[in-house]
Amino acid sequence: MKKYIIKKGDKYWPSNEIKKIAWIKDNKIYKQADKNPVKFWDKLAKEGLIWEKSWKKTYIEKLPYFWWFKGGKLNFCINALDRHLKDKGDKTALIWVPEPTSEKTVKLTYNELSKKVNKFANVLEKLGVKKGDVVAIYLPMIPEVLIAILACTRIGAIHSVVFSAFSADALKTRLQDGKAKILISADGYYRRGEKEYLDKKVNKAIIGTKVRKVIIVNRLSKNKKYSRKFISFEKEIEKADSYYKPRMMNSEDPLFILYTSGTTGKPKGVVHDIGGYATYAYWTTKWNFNLHNDDVMWCTADVGWITGHTYAFYGPLLNGGTTVIYEGTPDYPNYNRWWNIIDKNKITVFYTAPTAIRMFMKAGEKFLKKHKLNTLRIIGTVGEPIDKDTWEWYFKKVGKSRCPIIDTWWQTETGGSLINSLPGVGPFIPTISGYSFPGTKHIVVNEKGKKVKDGKIGSLVQLSPFAPGMLHGIYKNPKKYKDTYFKRFRNKYDTSDGAYIKNKLIRITGRTDDVIKVAGHRLSTAELENAINKYSNINESAVVSIPDKIKGEVPVSFVVLKSGNSTLSLEKQLKKHIDKTIGPIARPSKIYFVKELPKTRSGKIMRRILKNILNKEKPEGLMTLVNPDSVKEIEKII
Ligand code: WTA
Repeated sequence: MKKYIIKKGDKYWPSNEIKKIAWIKDNKIYKQADKNPVKFWDKLAKEGLIWEKSWKKTYIEKLPYFWWFKGGKLNFCINALDRHLKDKGDKTALIWVPEPTSEKTVKLTYNELSKKVNKFANVLEKLGVKKGDVVAIYLPMIPEVLIAILACTRIGAIHSVVFSAFSADALKTRLQDGKAKILISADGYYRRGEKEYLDKKVNKAIIGTKVRKVIIVNRLSKNKKYSRKFISFEKEIEKADSYYKPRMMNSEDPLFILYTSGTTGKPKGVVHDIGGYATYAYWTTKWNFNLHNDDVMWCTADVGWITGHTYAFYGPLLNGGTTVIYEGTPDYPNYNRWWNIIDKNKITVFYTAPTAIRMFMKAGEKFLKKHKLNTLRIIGTVGEPIDKDTWEWYFKKVGKSRCPIIDTWWQTETGGSLINSLPGVGPFIPTISGYSFPGTKHIVVNEKGKKVKDGKIGSLVQLSPFAPGMLHGIYKNPKKYKDTYFKRFRNKYDTSDGAYIKNKLIRITGRTDDVIKVAGHRLSTAELENAINKYSNINESAVVSIPDKIKGEVPVSFVVLKSGNSTLSLEKQLKKHIDKTIGPIARPSKIYFVKELPKTRSGKIMRRILKNILNKEKPEGLMTLVNPDSVKEIEKII
């Protein structure tokens, strides 16, 4: 069996086997790109995509904004579908694995997918969707979600996907912010053997929004009756014409909005432009996963998150690849499921999150032993720091000590991976993500924005010219955009991650703000506090995270009541309330009812002290507290 890595000292390097097939096998690429990143991306954009019209100036920067390929014209859908039809029309574009094992895997070729996308674009147009309109999508991992997003790109409408496990309230906020008139959803989906209904949540969410029509996919039950606002995805698509002329768009027109958590209670709509994002998604998929025509890629992320957008759908399709999606949970009907999917579909590139790997570690390797996993070439990880044990286990048990692990660091805001080792270049070192992607540059700075010495921890920032996949603002909130990313450090993009760099290799140490990663899902403690504070009889609350063996981090909440005492049922009710307002992923693992929260003289809640107490560390900064006794009280109940 082919071995794609070799060990030298404590590091792994690409073997000759992988060098034979690697797009990039030489680290000279970094220097070449660094000489003139703008020229580098200019060439790649032209080489990787089909443009209707070229641009004069490749990169324009007027901070906090910057534009790639301004003046260039293209259609995203032509790049993801049409251009492949001639040579790859009969190639499988999408493999969909439904959760129930009684249902068959569905395959769609590029021709079939294209036909559906064209038809659905006509459906949307008939409903009055125009270029630049926001279309909301609240769908699980089923083929219709891909059809829906691609149809939007064909029209030039901006899609805004909302994670299907989010609550009705979370959906409503996003519908209101984007002012979407059309919502595409489903009656529900299967999860862990159960039917999860979406239509009830949709009904609740659209009240008080601008949504005129809901297009509903029939996934669970036939013949369900809905109000006149609802129309059937299947029926509409059947009636529609099978060609829709793609709209030519400006490179700098928005492609999609994706809401993500920041340090405040309100999620922000991260906007990605067409040309820059497409260029970046294309090349990072090709080089990071060494994607060739015979590859079958499975990125396990849900489309509700950026990883699902870029590496489950857009990156593989822009490359004319085959992508696999799975509807359900990793442990349904048991822990064999994922490995079955890999063997059965001959998956060559597998990309997942450390939290999933930790879950399988805990379940035990017996579930892996029955599977060959011999089609795998590259395995990847994303979403949170991967610790050494998890890395080793993934490497040995899943990659069978043959496959490089590509540890990709990036964010919703960056559109694609920015820091990782390339399969043909290496090195592959546990806990080290790797180098900045060719043509991008990161440094670590101190509080004053000055570059720190090699090996010192500080704030990770990106330098100009900023990568083509980077966000183009926060939807209708320029101030927030500027304040969040370009205020703390002059002319540098603030990632809000800590890191250190040694010999250009970057290790991420974790977020420096109040964003937490629960099972790889990005949440903000402020968002949780807001939700808790809205519940009756709550005076105030503070949420901090604690390490968790499987989920990486989990939220813990401290709550002060207005009156009366806490009860067990109140804790239960509050957890239910979080499920309802955000979603079950945000549910605190524990709620402590306390008399007072530790505060400074200026009234700031000292969350760090709460964290210290939970971690059984000596609380720091007690001197600054106006109510040091609160700490003793809390220590007593923990
Ligand atoms: C964290 C996910 C360590 C990081 C693509 C970042 C990581 C946040 C890694 C963005 C990694 C992502 N190693 N940490 N390989 N990848 N992160 O927006 O803190 O959901 O800022 O995007 O995840 O999360 P988001």
